[in-house]
Parts: sequence; C-alpha cells; structure tokens
Amino acid sequence: MTIPDVMELTLDEKASLTSGASFWYTKPVERVGVPAIMVTDGPHGLRKQREGGDHLGIGDSVPATCFPPAVGLGSSWDVDLVHRVGEALGTETAIENVAVLLGPGINIKRSPLCGRNFEYFSEDPIVSGALGAAIVKGIQSKGVGTSLKHFAANNQENDRMRSSSDVDPRPLREIYLRGFQRVVEDAQPWTVMCAYNRINGVYASEDPWLLTRVLRDEWGFKGLVMSDWGAVNERVPGLAAGMDLEMPSSGGVTDAQIVAAVQDGSLDESVLDVAAGRVLDLVGKAQAGAGSIAGPLDVDAHHALAREAAGRSIVLLKNDAPDSVAALRQAQGPVQAQGPVEAQGPVEAQGPVEAQGPVLPLAKEANVAVIGEFAEKPRFQGAGSSMISPTRVDTALDEIRALSTGEVTYARGFSNALEVSPEESTALRDEAVAAASGADVVVVFLGLPARLESEGYDRDDIDLPVEQLALLDAVLAVNPNAVVVLSNGGVVALPFADRVPAILEGWLLGQAGGGAIADVLFGDVNPSAKLTETIPLRLEDSPAFLDFPGEFSHVRYGEGLFVGYRWYDARRLEVAFPFGHGLSYTTFSYGDAAASVREDGDIEVRVAVTNTGDRAGREVVQVYTSLPGGAVQRPDRELKAFASVQLEAGETREVVVPVRRKDLAYWDVRADRWVVEGGEYVVEVAASSRDIRSRVTVEVAGDEFALPLSRTSSLGEVMRHPVAGPVVQAAIAQMMGGMEGAAAIMPEGVDFTKMMESFPIGRVGMFAGGEGGGVSPEMIDGLIAMGNAGRQ
Ligand code: BGC
Repeated sequence: MTIPDVMELTLDEKASLTSGASFWYTKPVERVGVPAIMVTDGPHGLRKQREGGDHLGIGDSVPATCFPPAVGLGSSWDVDLVHRVGEALGTETAIENVAVLLGPGINIKRSPLCGRNFEYFSEDPIVSGALGAAIVKGIQSKGVGTSLKHFAANNQENDRMRSSSDVDPRPLREIYLRGFQRVVEDAQPWTVMCAYNRINGVYASEDPWLLTRVLRDEWGFKGLVMSDWGAVNERVPGLAAGMDLEMPSSGGVTDAQIVAAVQDGSLDESVLDVAAGRVLDLVGKAQAGAGSIAGPLDVDAHHALAREAAGRSIVLLKNDAPDSVAALRQAQGPVQAQGPVEAQGPVEAQGPVEAQGPVLPLAKEANVAVIGEFAEKPRFQGAGSSMISPTRVDTALDEIRALSTGEVTYARGFSNALEVSPEESTALRDEAVAAASGADVVVVFLGLPARLESEGYDRDDIDLPVEQLALLDAVLAVNPNAVVVLSNGGVVALPFADRVPAILEGWLLGQAGGGAIADVLFGDVNPSAKLTETIPLRLEDSPAFLDFPGEFSHVRYGEGLFVGYRWYDARRLEVAFPFGHGLSYTTFSYGDAAASVREDGDIEVRVAVTNTGDRAGREVVQVYTSLPGGAVQRPDRELKAFASVQLEAGETREVVVPVRRKDLAYWDVRADRWVVEGGEYVVEVAASSRDIRSRVTVEVAGDEFALPLSRTSSLGEVMRHPVAGPVVQAAIAQMMGGMEGAAAIMPEGVDFTKMMESFPIGRVGMFAGGEGGGVSPEMIDGLIAMGNAGRQ
C-alpha cells in the first residue's frame, strides 16, 4: 500500500494525523488507506500493553526481554555491545508489529537525586551521545524506529510537567544538548520526543528554537517530533514550533483547534502540511519495515544476550585482600559507622598480617553465605513507563548455587517491606550473623528498595536504608571476608567503603542480572565496566546540591558547565569513586600516548595497552582534553572519546582513539556558534578521570573566527584581531618608543599594554595624549572598517 501525498488529504484529515488515536496508536485515514501505527516504551525492553494503556507502567504488557536499563548498559562503555542489544530490541519490536520503540533516554544525570537516573546513561554528553547513537542504529537496523528522549534538559522528575530548566547557553549546548546532537547527526532516529519541561521559560513542546532551529536547521534532523505523553501545553503554537505529533490522544480537541486556526488565518496551512507530511513519512517507513521479522522470539538467545550485557554492566569498585581491612581495623581501633571514607586504592596493610590475595573472584568450592533480600528478589529495572514484563527472571541466589561447588547458605538479613517490626529486624539480622560467622566468605546484597526511586519523583537523599547499613556492620563484625553487591538505579553513598574489601556496583541489571552477578563473583566473567557517573562521598558535595530541584517551577542550573566529574575536579573534592573508574581481575599498563592531527582535522590518539595480569580482560581507555590558558572557562579535563580493548594475559595492543575536532569546540555566546579555539591542547589518556596514565600535547589550529570590530571592542580584542591587530600593535609600539626616556613614574615591570587592554577602542582617543592626542574618531572608525573589510 503506498502512502498518499499530504496534498491528497483534507484539512480535517491532516489535522487528525497530528495527534494520537489512543494511548499507543496514531490515527488512520481510511479514505486514502493510511493505517494507524503503534509506538510503545522502551527503552530497555518492549512494553507492549495488551489492552488499554498507561504511561506509568501500571498495566500488564506482553512478555519481552528485559535488558539492563541504561544505568547498567552504559557502564559497559561499549558501543558494539550496545548496538547488539539495540538489534535485539529492534527484533522484538518488529516481531510484535510495533513501529517505534520509545527510547533511548539520554538526558544528563545532573543530580544523583533524579528519580529517573536509571533510564539515562551518564553525567557526560560524549558517553550519552555515543551510546545513544549505538542503540538507535541497532534498533533501527531492524526496520523499526526509535524516539530519542526527553528533548531536552529534562533532568529531574520533580514538577517535571511545568518546571523551567534555566540553563545558560554554554552548558545548554556543551552539556545538555551535545549528546542529542551526536545521536541525531550520527544515527538519525526516526523520531525525537520532546520533554515535558520548559527550557528558559519556554515549553519544549512549543519551542521553535529547540525543535526547528537547533534540531532541524543546525543538526539536520529529518524525522518527526512527537510529544512526551501529555507534554502539549498550547497545541497550535506547538505545531508552528515544529512539534508534529501530539501523544497520546487529545480526543480530537486539539485537532479542532488546528483546523480553526487554519480557517481563521492564524496558522498557515503549509505548517500543517509539513507536520502531517512527517506523520505520513513515519507511517511509510513503518510499513516498509513491517513484517520483515517473523516470530516467535528466540527467548533463550535474547536471555543469553541479556546475561552477557548484564555481566558487562557490573562495576568492580574495589577488590582488596580481606586481611588489609582487618589490619586497618586493628590499627584504627573501633570503626565509626558513618565516618569519613577514604575509599580509593587498596588499603595499606599494617602490622604482621599474612598477605592474601583479593577477595574476588571467589573460589567455586568456597562456602558462601549469601545475605540480603535482593539475592532472592532482585531489583532489575526501575519503576514507571519503562517497566516491562520480563520473559523470565534469574535470581543471584539460584545462580550462585548453580555455579558453586561449595556450601551456599542464605539469610534474608533485612526486609524491604514498608512496615517491619523491630523484633523482625533483629531476628533477620541475627540469622544473617549466624550464617556469616560459619562461612568462608560472605556476599551481602544491599540496595535501594523500589519505592525509593521511580519515574515521577526524585529521591530525598543518596543513602542506603539504615537497617541495611546496620546489618552490614553486624556481619562484618563476625566475618570481614565480605563482598558487597549493590542494586540501585541512582548512585548511593558508600560509608562502608573502607571497611569492606570488595564491592560490586550491580545497578539494575535486567532479567538476567542474577546470573551475571554469579558469573562475576566466581570469575567466569572478568568485570570490565566503569562508572559513567561519579559516586560522591556526600550528597552535599554534588554539583547541583544547592540548585535542585528549584522552586516555584524554576530550577537554576547554577553549576553551569561543571556537571559531574567536571565539578568534583574543579572544586578539588574527594569522591568515593571517580567517573570512569572500574577494576578488573587483571591489571593493565599503558605506554606513552601519541596524539596527532589528521587531515580531516580530527585528532588521533594512540596508546599501547598491556594486560599485565594473568587472565584475559577488557580495558576501557578514556581520552580527556583541556586547553590551559584558553579564552573561555573550561573544566580541568573533559572526556572527548573512549575505546575498549580485549586483551589476553600478557598481550599488548595499540589502541587508536579518534577525537572529533568538533568535540573540542566551545559554544561562543557572543557569536552564537561553535568555535574551536586554537592552541596547545593537553590530551590525557586515562583509566579513569582520576587515574591519568599518559599525557601529551597537540597543537590544534583554531577556527577562522573573529567578531566584527566595533567602537566597543576592547583594545585587547583589537590587538588580537588578525587584520587590525598588527596596525594597532605597531602604533602602540611607536607611541611607547616616543615615551622612552621621558620621566616615567610607573613602577618597573608594570605592563602598560595590559593596563590598557580593556579600554573600548572608541574611547582610546581621549587617553592618547589628551585632546584626542592625534587619534580622531574618524581614524578609529577607519580602523574598524578596515578590520571588518579585511575579514569579509
Ligand atoms: C515518559 C516517557 C514515556 C511515555 C509513554 C512518559 O511519562 O516520560 O518516557 O515514553 O510516558 O509511556
């Protein structure tokens, strides 16, 4: 069936296409054979509801593979893996005849408190953008579409349908939009979903700057913009701004508004033609892909992929020898429950303690005490619209039992129920302590109960429940040979980090997470994930602490560019575990990096990485840059690229990491454009943002860029101007020469030129020797005209 041209439709038919028929369907136009298509959540699995619909994850949906949510998958830092997961998601979407999977979500994790951080990849736009592009390409390779969301600056749940994210232009472009730009330019998602919130006072759903100028004119987006569910404020201005499809259904109310606006002349019909045309294009693409993949779904194969992906999502935060912790305790005396933590690096053993290896991986024959409700009842996805019905769910407890050849005992340890009596808590703890004291090693599962983080609301703190911390203390008192495994969608404070020899950050791992945890615990999988967000010591240290979630529907992004590690670095703050950190059961050494500018202007960074341990492993190599002494404020270091390498024990490989020239650009607020500043860039090759292994510099030629001169240009700006600069510099030199020998009262070393630098050129005449001093306004205007003409 061919899709008709929009010009064949009546006014009413065109308007009808621009809003949904129901929760998940677009409207058909039966007269000309346009079918309805189905769109549905996303992002880490297919949530196709059987009947009715809701956007809060309440109603049941058809079983689908629950892959690790973005918080987990992102920690893999692996675009190939993410692409493969995307392909699997696309396959499931196609089998179920759904046209568009509503994801990925790539918003920046601005505050650890955002209730929806589990759905997002990172605090860094290069990570979010690269992984977002990979998943979009994977999904769309199967003939179905994606919806890149939530566009844009949707970084909290609190008041999300009204709140204005008040962001300055540089952070908006360099942090909050950069990832979206990359996904649009690299992967052309079929659709973009506009966010609920306002940006600098304007609803995303009716912002022509955002939806048309930036998204289409600058980035070249070719697809359709749909609204988040219920994000439309005023429909007619929204349509004119570039918001093509309102979701879900408006019951025809807004279609009628559009028709009326065309009829009374307040809306040009051509605007409607464009939007309806985009809906037709989407339907056409969906039809072309429909039926290309026949079911049934290979449930086992996708479950296996979900397990592989989950194994690659688990971050080994720490892996020390148990004796070092015991020694530390001996040396320090009794441990303070919530004292300041110094968590990085292995704890120095003190005193005559026999050295042992790190706790992990566990020997399969070890007698293991498994403690904590999450081992038996896993939290594997977050609450809200992304909640899907998994095809099956593995528990860590069963999978540990399956891989272990020793004795495995289990104690619940605590209860995640809302109401727990003190007697019950004590009984659970006592049972856990008894299990721990008899075991070779204890694996304690801690985490956030589901109610503490969800779409729709933010968290109040980053603390684990107190009863869990108390349980851990009680267990450690009888058996310090312990591993903590965490289940959480947003970061949590780890006040016990110096008292537990090994910690696995297990995030939310999808339906196969239980198996993946067992794989990592026993070393069948060597962990290789790294943090895509900083784990702070205290919530108070976090960048948005004083500006979150705002008040009276405005949230000021006061930290500016300094989001995530950019902030902790600039403020020289200790953190629990830094951005980019993650250990392995092997070790890697880095050679000296080399960096050069390629013909296309991109920078090629090369470094040899060696697996110096005794087992195969994968290392994520990170490249950060900075430009000391640059013209604009910049963070100490910013991630610009990354790559991963799989190495056998003892193997060395050269890793090539290209840095895109455009990613070096800052947003120039005076010219309203990107500018690559020229200069000597520092390139750091690193194992984490705080583990720099090699540093080189590379000279980068700047963009041809000069602001037009005017009378308000400063003398300094004019001196740096490529055309006018040499003229002025010569004049100053002449003037200074004339003054030589004159009775100078200026203290030696005071830089006269520097003193003058900020003078507006239009006012210089007054100071150049009095009475105009031979510098007339005409001469200045002439200089300005000459400079500007020379730049044309
Ligand atoms: C969420 C979107 C989701 C939509 C449909 C909204 O509440 O913000 O991410 O795709 O509902 O369920």
